[in-house]
Amino acid sequence: MKTGDSHRLLLNQGGICLATVSFSVFNYEKTTFTMKKIEAIIKPHKFEEVQEALREAGVHGMTVTEVKGFGRQRGHTEIYRGSEYTIDFVPKTKLEIITSDEQCAAIAKVIEETAKTGKVGDGKIFIYNIEDVLRIRTSEHGDEAL
Ligand SMILES: Nc1ncnc2c1ncn2[C@@H]1O[C@H](COP(=O)(O)OP(=O)(O)OP(=O)(O)O)[C@@H](O)[C@H]1O
Ligand SMILES: [Mg+2]
Repeated sequence: MKTGDSHRLLLNQGGICLATVSFSVFNYEKTTFTMKKIEAIIKPHKFEEVQEALREAGVHGMTVTEVKGFGRQRGHTEIYRGSEYTIDFVPKTKLEIITSDEQCAAIAKVIEETAKTGKVGDGKIFIYNIEDVLRIRTSEHGDEAL
């Protein structure tokens, strides 16, 4: 079957159409997940410490973005010139790291331990399955492209 082929399965019993199921077939070179994406939202003042710990842990690629967000407390309340203001969005730093499955837990642990202050707003770590990675220069795929 070719990439993008669409197949239609018709379930028919006694002349009554019960269900029509459509599905697509994708032709990835690797079909099993072997990599993860770690997306960590941390306090900006913790970034340098986390970055250094990740370097020592052998992380050799990441994307960093300055972001704004809120969690359960919906930001925080500040007094400014005697009035109370609720600030919905608090500045945070987002790290994105693609790792092999094997290294994922250890790297997430490094971030967790280094970014923790014990106070609200310390951040979150989201983990995703990654289907493939392509190094543009060499056309390497998967783990080899990390
Ligand atoms: N459910 C969510 N979806 C997307 N981003 C989130 C979510 N929760 C938190 N974030 C992001 O993480 C940042 C830090 O969240 P935060 O640490 O305040 O989470 P929390 O659940 O309120 O935990 P805590 O009670 O420790 O403060 C937010 O500013 C936001 O950018
Ligand atoms: Mg919070």
